[in-house]
Amino acid sequence: MKSNELRQIFFEFFRSKGHIIVPSAPMVVKNDPTLMFTNAGMNQFKDIFLGNHNATVNRVANSQKCLRVSGKHNDLEEVGHDTYHHTMFEMLGNWSFGDYFKKEAIEWAWELLTERLKIPEDRLYATIFEGNTEENVPKDDEALMYWRECFDNPGDRIIEGSKKDNFWEMGDTGPCGPCSEIHIDIREDSERSRLPGRELINKGHPQVIELWNLVFIQYNRKNDGVLEPLPSKHVDTGMGFERLCMVLQGKKSNYDTDIFQDIITEISRITGKPYGKTEKWDTALRVISDHLRAVSFSIADGQIPSNNKAGYVIRRILRRAVRYGYTGLEMEEPFIFRLVPALARTMGSQYPELVAREDYISKIIFEEEQSFLKTLGKGLRMMEKMISDLRKENRNVLPGRAAFEMYDTFGFPVDLTQLILRENDMHLDITGFESEMQLQKSRSREDA
Ligand code: GLY
Repeated sequence: MKSNELRQIFFEFFRSKGHIIVPSAPMVVKNDPTLMFTNAGMNQFKDIFLGNHNATVNRVANSQKCLRVSGKHNDLEEVGHDTYHHTMFEMLGNWSFGDYFKKEAIEWAWELLTERLKIPEDRLYATIFEGNTEENVPKDDEALMYWRECFDNPGDRIIEGSKKDNFWEMGDTGPCGPCSEIHIDIREDSERSRLPGRELINKGHPQVIELWNLVFIQYNRKNDGVLEPLPSKHVDTGMGFERLCMVLQGKKSNYDTDIFQDIITEISRITGKPYGKTEKWDTALRVISDHLRAVSFSIADGQIPSNNKAGYVIRRILRRAVRYGYTGLEMEEPFIFRLVPALARTMGSQYPELVAREDYISKIIFEEEQSFLKTLGKGLRMMEKMISDLRKENRNVLPGRAAFEMYDTFGFPVDLTQLILRENDMHLDITGFESEMQLQKSRSREDA
């Protein structure tokens, strides 16, 4: 089943349950000081949950473009090194604004996965919140009761989880509540019989993964950390679209689905480096295909790379892609901009803004690539030398002054310096770096 078809099945299913299908909100958030990017489907409904706005309809569903690269939910450094983390991803969601609650949310999720999409029940697990006395939130016996009605063998399949995994919060403040996750085990049968999937839930196994999170929004986390009960109860669900495609397309990696393969094929065509040959190439191909999406969608939403806030986050993502292209695929000339048409072909039917702004997105990416490549090669060679010197001296901390010189003289970003150091089990003397920065600021004030 193609990804575009699967998205439509999700919409159709929730339409049949009385939901209105609404468009994705922009991925770049402009009017919320607590958030730079949409990190979950529920962001656009925050004020409805908090009771600040009345909903015009009380059941909606959609596919939301999300970016998890800053703040509470940040997956950036994982991306490329495994098969299922992304910066930008789509979240399929259904919402109830003070309407249905746990019973329907659980029953419909189960019906969609096992009846409509025919995912075998013996691959699925559900988690529920075990409760937390400090927060004064009880164990979620209600969710437990409904899950028991779904599974033939509930004793084996329902797992209690702590606040870390089963109490969902959008950020440090805002709407939140206990959640119940659906996990899937897509390992081979032989592996499944050796070790039950329940032992691997939330343990970072690439083939035993969370698929869908059903959040029961009941509280507002206030600035002082206190949980305040909300006037109404709501449902907020989020299902990872790329993961669902992986399951239904019988793949073991999100990057093997049609969502990514069309882009990866295009990168391979341009670079002459096919997917599935070496880990170095594969990591670079995954990083670039992922980051192309994040950057293109941001630019389509009006956020171009810059030196400030959201713009800087986008710049860092694009530079990370350029670096992997340079070191992993030996691409010393701009090429990421040439991938935008493949992305627009894959996702343009759901997100027409990509098609409408295709030329503009390519142009911005080209300019960024071109200017960053000028500093990158030189900076990387200097980093290599510094790392090898540190190693010879059996040291693992790069002095702040060295990183500052790289930044000040060659425009080499300090976060890239830190990233490369981390990859080599080293780190930066950040205090030293910051005092060099302060010194330079006072020097320029004196000069002025
Ligand atoms: N709001 C549900 C989730 O992001 O998992």
